[in-house]
Amino acid sequence: MSNRTKIVKAVIPAAGLGTRMLPATKAVPKEMLPVAGKPLIQYAVEEAAASGIDTVILVIRGNKSLIQEHFAPGHDLKSRFYQQGLNKSPDCLCPDSKPINIKYVQQESPLGLAHAISCAQPLVGDEPFVVLLPDVIMLTHEPVTSQLIRTHAEVGGSVIAIREVEPQDVKRFGIVQLQGPAVSSPRGPLRITGLIEKPSSERAPSRFGVFGRYLLEPSIWNVIAQTHADPRGEVQLTDALSTLCQQASLFGVCFDGWHYDAGDRMGYLQANIELSLEDPHLREPLLHYLSGIASSQSASKFLAQPSGGRSQVLTSQPGDSSSRKL
Ligand code: G1P
Repeated sequence: MSNRTKIVKAVIPAAGLGTRMLPATKAVPKEMLPVAGKPLIQYAVEEAAASGIDTVILVIRGNKSLIQEHFAPGHDLKSRFYQQGLNKSPDCLCPDSKPINIKYVQQESPLGLAHAISCAQPLVGDEPFVVLLPDVIMLTHEPVTSQLIRTHAEVGGSVIAIREVEPQDVKRFGIVQLQGPAVSSPRGPLRITGLIEKPSSERAPSRFGVFGRYLLEPSIWNVIAQTHADPRGEVQLTDALSTLCQQASLFGVCFDGWHYDAGDRMGYLQANIELSLEDPHLREPLLHYLSGIASSQSASKFLAQPSGGRSQVLTSQPGDSSSRKL
């Protein structure tokens, strides 16, 4: 049994501009975009709750009150459902998840991921904590955050989720430099000796990318405070971690499971399709629909027409299972 501090606080940065998803994110925060009927941010909060976290600190921006509304109790809807005899709760977190305390802190300007996290410092204090980036959705048996917490209990230090990526994708991630020779599918935590944010394939120190889940020791606060902004004016967490690993232990855990980069248009679509396929009500009709469009060019044929055709394609036919009320 480890006597390390129990990790009970999570920081979820949700104050970015969401530029990769414009125009959808002009008025709606990226973190509120739905994936399989549930906003992105809810996946992160549920993963935290399922990993034993009891307090989640959401870092938001002034116009992101929709996020606060989403997590506020839905009293009006509840009474309406009750009057209509519907056995349904409008409240967000799944009924079997533990009660979780949600707090908010403002990031006045989008000055980078490390800056966003440091806005939560007064609420986190001097204890280790986890960070979950809400645009990375994880589909795993054991939540990735819980995999990091378990590793921390065994080896201590700060711990981050990593995974091998294709050579053409290293420019999309923070990439780690590992101690010792690189091994494919390593077992157990790997010591990290450096990181570079979104390098070219020539500069990449390995092919192991950082995947939006971090467990950080409180020594990160001083390091962030001393980290300079990059040429775009953003203080990168990757740069802070690159300094941290020169002073203290930083491990990478090759997590088990699937991930989706839902902050990117293609990843967002994949997440929607694949997570909808996990829904027992949607699976069969969706598979039927997908196999139908895969074997014909129907949608693109109608998109070229000024009107009419599209609704024909998208409207369910009588008797078609996709017209069932879900
Ligand atoms: C951020 C991090 C990057 C990490 C990625 C994971 O980048 O800066 O190091 O690999 O998340 O998804 P972003 O995708 O927010 O630009």
